[in-house]
Amino acid sequence: MIPSPNARRRLTAAVVYPLIAGCAAVLLTLAAAPRDPQEARHEHRVGDHDFSDAERWSAHLDHAERSEWQRPESVVALMEVAAGMTAVDLGAGTGYFLPYLAAAVGRDGRVLALEPEPNLVDFMEERCEREGLVNVEPRRIPFDDPQLDAGSVDRILIVNTWHHIAARAAYSAKLLAALAPDGRVYVVDFVRESPIGPPPEERLEPHQVIRELEAGGLRSEQIEEDLPWQYVVVGRRP
Ligand SMILES: C[S@@+](CC[C@H](N)C(=O)[O-])C[C@H]1O[C@@H](n2cnc3c(N)ncnc32)[C@H](O)[C@@H]1O
Repeated sequence: MIPSPNARRRLTAAVVYPLIAGCAAVLLTLAAAPRDPQEARHEHRVGDHDFSDAERWSAHLDHAERSEWQRPESVVALMEVAAGMTAVDLGAGTGYFLPYLAAAVGRDGRVLALEPEPNLVDFMEERCEREGLVNVEPRRIPFDDPQLDAGSVDRILIVNTWHHIAARAAYSAKLLAALAPDGRVYVVDFVRESPIGPPPEERLEPHQVIRELEAGGLRSEQIEEDLPWQYVVVGRRP
């Protein structure tokens, strides 16, 4: 289970945020939406889903109100990204995190935006062009392999995506192989109490993510964050 102080904080957040921090508007918007793709996606098995409508996904993943609960600057700050690093966004979707990662690695660094859905890769290419993200490279990958060179990556960010990957222990070993010395993997996903995200029964508890990363050889732990609906697990080279 989540350590009790964290659990208490989140239960408090579950009551206070919607009322006080402006999240009520977000939740009402989400409730009013005919379909939340983050939920719709979970009706399908990995490799069998339809992410082809990139514009529709962007309407949700890139919604302006997402920043209220996703707090992308805060997530990237947790990752301790330094200028010149190589950072990966695994399952990058429409590229929501790319501007933040691109700024963090700077002109001498680079960001690899890995994504199995070809239309989303095209969407990210257009986004990089439009937003001048010259240090970002969108890449299409298969579902079971990030296809990263050994020892080539400093940071790997995996947001709302880890639970989509099928053989996660084997996948963890591939991530470990890709890490440079002091390289790290950050998994960000929804807590069970969250009013948004995949159906609760499909959510992974932090301890399960830790076990899966450790099965692949990564030294892993849950870390403190300020996200109302998500937890963060970091995996490091042993
Ligand atoms: C809910 S979206 C999250 C997108 C992005 N990380 C964000 O937070 O905006 C999940 C993403 O995971 C991708 N995905 C699904 N299975 C995957 C796999 N096996 N490997 C890598 N990405 C995968 C999907 O194509 C989709 O873009």
